[in-house]
Amino acid sequence: MSACRIAPSILSADFARLGQDVEDVLASGADMIHFDVMDNHYVPNLSFGAPICHALRHYGIDAFIDVHLMVSPVDRLIGDFLDAGANMITFHPEASEHIDRSLQLIRDGGAKAGLVFNPATPLHWLDYVMDKVDMVLLMSVNPGFGGQSFIPGTLDKIRDARRRIDESGRDIWLEVDGGVKADNIADIAAAGADTFVAGSAIFKHRRDEDPHGYDSVIDTL
Ligand code: DX5
Ligand code: ZN
Repeated sequence: MSACRIAPSILSADFARLGQDVEDVLASGADMIHFDVMDNHYVPNLSFGAPICHALRHYGIDAFIDVHLMVSPVDRLIGDFLDAGANMITFHPEASEHIDRSLQLIRDGGAKAGLVFNPATPLHWLDYVMDKVDMVLLMSVNPGFGGQSFIPGTLDKIRDARRRIDESGRDIWLEVDGGVKADNIADIAAAGADTFVAGSAIFKHRRDEDPHGYDSVIDTL
């Protein structure tokens, strides 16, 4: 299985010092940045758009940016995030009118593409696009908010997704997103995940416990 990657979700970062927060988590060992885009339509919350991704690139962040689109419709925003410097763009299959076309749009724009599965969304949406995905993102919470608790039933779904990916013979990342903490990440990895989104586990730490950085918390993940 490929290396483990830690992807801090900036939804839980301090938006008043976002560039510095992102710099700090990367300096503390984060492998990439998870960028939660919420439109208050597909999910009951509103976050940020492509200009913030562009601003981070302009600020000097050259890390891998993993954009998680919790939006509907999907295609209209793909071009904006490609232009803003996204490296990976994932979307929820229920939110796209044409899944294959949306995946192709992302890849034609030079980014990696992935599908996101809500806790109750079955994996059979993968059946005809395994050759077009670079990542499978499993939600271990219902989308829309950080700081929720990990849904334990996700572990079986991770095992199922890992089996599907291994059978495909393709190098597809398996990312888990929602409620990932130091006390459950080992079980999530053992189930077959290789990429881990953590928002409140990382950024809440900074505000509450360690004003000098994230070294101690990223090392525990
Ligand atoms: C939820 C987002 C997640 C969330 C993770 O809709 O997709 O990425 O921000 O935050 P934590 O790690 O706090 O659950
Ligand atoms: Zn996310």
